Parts: sequence; C-alpha cells; structure tokens
Amino acid sequence: MARLTGKTALITGGTTGIGLATAKLFLQEGARVAITGQDVGRVTEAGAMLGANAIAIRADVSSASEMAAVAVRLKKEFGGLDIIFANAGIAKPMQFADVDEENINSQIDVNFKGVIYTIQKMLPILHKPASIILTSTTLTEQGFAGMSMYSATKAAVRSLARTLSAELIGQGVRVNVISPGPIETPIYGKMGMSAEALQQMAGMVLGAVPAGRFGQAEEVAKAVLFLASDDSSYILGEDLLVDGGMAMI
Ligand SMILES: NC(=O)c1ccc[n+]([C@@H]2O[C@H](COP(=O)([O-])OP(=O)(O)OC[C@H]3O[C@@H](n4cnc5c(N)ncnc54)[C@H](OP(=O)(O)O)[C@@H]3O)[C@@H](O)[C@H]2O)c1
Repeated sequence: MARLTGKTALITGGTTGIGLATAKLFLQEGARVAITGQDVGRVTEAGAMLGANAIAIRADVSSASEMAAVAVRLKKEFGGLDIIFANAGIAKPMQFADVDEENINSQIDVNFKGVIYTIQKMLPILHKPASIILTSTTLTEQGFAGMSMYSATKAAVRSLARTLSAELIGQGVRVNVISPGPIETPIYGKMGMSAEALQQMAGMVLGAVPAGRFGQAEEVAKAVLFLASDDSSYILGEDLLVDGGMAMI
C-alpha cells in the first residue's frame, strides 16, 4: 500500500530540485500535495507537471502574511495538513570579509525566518499526528570556506527542530531534519557565480565526498518520505544526513 494514502502535504520550495522531486514521490505514495515557490513562472511550470492532485502556490516564505494566506487556502482546499516539508532555501556563497547586509539578511530571511513563518502559520491547520521535516545541510557539521552565512542559517534551522520537537511532541507532532550534501539541483545556477567559479567549487566539493559524486534530488526525496511517513513514528529531533558520507567519514 502507498505510504501516504489520505495524507496532505505542504512542500515549500517545491518548484525545482529536492522539493519538486519530493512532491513527485509524495504524489506517487498517495498524498495530495501543495508546493510553493517565489517565482511565478516556475510555480506555473511545476504545477502543470505535477497534475490534478497538486496545488502550486506563489508565496514568498520570508513573508509572514503570504504564508498566512497559504494556510487559509490549504484549510479550504485540503481541510488541513498532515505533513510540512519546510524546504525553501537560497545559498549565496561569499568570503566572510566581503559579507554585507544583503548577503546576511537575504539568507536569514529565506532560510531561517522562512522556516519559522512556514511552521507557525501552518500550526493551526495541522492534523494530529503530523510530521514536520526541515531542510538543513551537511555543512552544519563541517566548515566550508565561503559558506559562513548560509551554514549559520541552516544551523539555526537544525536548532529550531530540537526546540520544536520538545514543544510539539505533546500535540502529536514530530519534527525532524534532513541534511543534504552536494545534490545536483538548480540551486547552483542561482548563486550568481561564474561558470568557472562554479566548476572550481564543484571540484572542491567532489573531493570531499567519499561517494565520489553529487547526489540526486530523488535520493533526498526518499529520505524525506521516510521521515514524513509512519515508518519513522518513533524518530524525532533527528538530523538525517544524505551526503554521500561527506560529514561522517
Ligand atoms: N542542492 C544542494 O546541494 C543542497 C545541499 C544542502 C542543502 N540544500 C537545501 O535544500 C533545499 C532545496 O534546495 P535545492 O538544492 O533543491 O535548490 P533549488 O532547486 O534552487 O530549490 C529551492 C526552492 O526554494 C524556492 N525558494 C527560494 N526562495 C524562496 C522564497 N523566498 N520563497 C519561496 N520559495 C523560495 C525555490 O523557488 P524559486 O526558484 O521560485 O525561488 C525552489 O523551489 C534548500 O533549502 C537548500 O538550501 C541543498
């Protein structure tokens, strides 16, 4: 039997990459799925790709009012939510000496405040039991030059998951983290780096991955499905690394 039959899920940042792969897998497993993204073109494209059991919504996770509107719409269309995958994120690599207000604020706004608003606004429409999964990164386990602000926002996400686990388990809500290593997704094309700089970074990253390759979004999606489903019913506050051994070996 499909593992998410009868369940409803919200996936923020579901228009491309890990979020989109997870939306496809959740649909295959019988869920109804809502995805969000901030780019209207990508939202429309992903919505058309996912079909009738999915809703695609343009909403910026860093806006509390836009996420509140998402909750109102999902209450109306789904009746409530069983699963939240708070996954939307951006990465803006920069040497620490050059980090400016824009670099700091934009990554905090999307990667950290975005997770806060997503969960806070959806709490009133959560069914019990429910599962919440937050996307962090393997880079919270190790230092990688140029990623100071990004890694710090994701460390904040990891910390939030522990606190929320403690606060919400009494209401039947499990909170866990998924921490991808280098995964082949469009995020690298959105970093504003030259092709040459990207190539150089990819080489450095690959040298640090025992598996010797980038991961695929579908490989992360399978781990998210595990945390979303009842298969992980006794797991909470966990940080599941999907990183080709990068942090642990
Ligand atoms: N790929 C990796 O190597 C890797 C490694 C570790 C962690 N991660 C994390 O995994 C998550 C997914 O990333 P990905 O690799 O799948 O990259 P991706 O393909 O760029 O996906 C990011 C998603 O987040 C959405 N998003 C960005 N800003 C948003 C905003 N303000 N409001 C709503 N949605 C927003 C994007 O939509 P738009 O394009 O429309 O903005 C897109 O759907 C991120 O949190 C990322 O930090 C990725």
